[in-house]
Amino acid sequence: MNSKWDRSTICVQGGYEPGNGEPRVLPIYQSTTYRYDSAEELAKLFDLESPGHMYTRISNPTVEMVEKKIADLEGGVGAMMTSSGQAASLISVFNIASSGDNFVMMGNLYGGTTNLFLVTMRRMGIEARVVTSGMSDEEIISCFDSRTRCFFGETIANPSLEVFDFDRFVPLAHRMGVPVIIDNTFATPILCSPFDYGVDIIVHSTTKYMDGHAMVVGGVIVDSGNFDWEKSGKYPELTKPDESYHGVVYTKQFGRSAYITKARTQLMRDLGSTPQPMSAFLLNLGLETLHLRIRRHSENALRVAEYLSSRRDIIESVSYPGLPGDKEHGRAVKYLRDGMASGVVSFVIRGGRERAMKFMDSLRLAEIVVHVADARTCVLNPASTTHRQLSDEMLRAAGIEPGFVRFSVGIEDAGDIIRDIEEALAKCL
Ligand SMILES: Cc1ncc(COP(=O)(O)O)c(C=O)c1O
Repeated sequence: MNSKWDRSTICVQGGYEPGNGEPRVLPIYQSTTYRYDSAEELAKLFDLESPGHMYTRISNPTVEMVEKKIADLEGGVGAMMTSSGQAASLISVFNIASSGDNFVMMGNLYGGTTNLFLVTMRRMGIEARVVTSGMSDEEIISCFDSRTRCFFGETIANPSLEVFDFDRFVPLAHRMGVPVIIDNTFATPILCSPFDYGVDIIVHSTTKYMDGHAMVVGGVIVDSGNFDWEKSGKYPELTKPDESYHGVVYTKQFGRSAYITKARTQLMRDLGSTPQPMSAFLLNLGLETLHLRIRRHSENALRVAEYLSSRRDIIESVSYPGLPGDKEHGRAVKYLRDGMASGVVSFVIRGGRERAMKFMDSLRLAEIVVHVADARTCVLNPASTTHRQLSDEMLRAAGIEPGFVRFSVGIEDAGDIIRDIEEALAKCL
């Protein structure tokens, strides 16, 4: 597809171009395996000498077409879908880090990613070093050493909603000779294009806005093709022969696609965190309307944030980067298209955990679920669910107020969503 098309056109038509007489809709290739005329042809595939599919753990035509659409949306040289966002985050770092190495992560990442990086990857011998935007450049630079392999952040952090300061952190990481990996889940390629700000690799939990209908868990890694692995001299796994693949040197054989090719041919082959063809088909349905939905989510969320800000009698604080006056608003206007900041609004309700639970029980339209970024409005109070084992003191130490509510604004009528909130608040007074 012409990569000059606008993102909305790519959402609808990217990735799949049917030939004469072929199905108009993306076909589901529900096959684990592929036939070849000769043993030699298959051998060439194994040697990575010719393109093609050999086994669905590694690649599949339906999945490939959705990968192409996402790569085009982000402006990358290639993408690899995974079975979940967690798998995408793990593989994105593990592709360039081994036991004994370390990497730098922002302290505001999604809780599941934080646990993966600080606990599970530690057990693999890879150390994550935590930095925050409150630290000085000198303090952050002191976290890097010769074994530091990347810098990892989120465009709009879940759930603090801090907006990543690209112009500060990307040049800093590059000065230290490492690539920047960004989780662009909440912003989506429609609101933010991290590659335009020098980011090298993007990951997504496609489970969120890209799918948008809470149907399929999935993830994706997108490679900008811009990081110079050879020049930096720190990445032998890409620039020296891979013994597990007949001595292939990824940078020599695949040039700008070295990183994403290695992720697939080595790590997807070995770890098998594979997306299913049917999941790719469903994800593609979601992607076809992403550009429309994310705009509506953002418009509705702004109205909800404005309403909540007018209820200081019961609402202690509201966070929404799209809201003028919000501490993240400057960065939202700078990095997010039209200052649109997706559908997630956080607020603290006066009266702590009990009142937050009463409020949530009183909602009729917004549903209580462990999810965000759904077409249907949904809500979660970490103190009574994901973090319920923590005391109020422990919660505050973790930066979460007991009355903190994460409200994921859907694409229903904004007036109905606000009326639902208003009625639920009235029951809590
Ligand atoms: C920002 C972000 N990144 C990654 C993940 C993990 O994705 P998944 O649940 O698809 O494994 C999530 C899940 O909530 C998330 O919100």
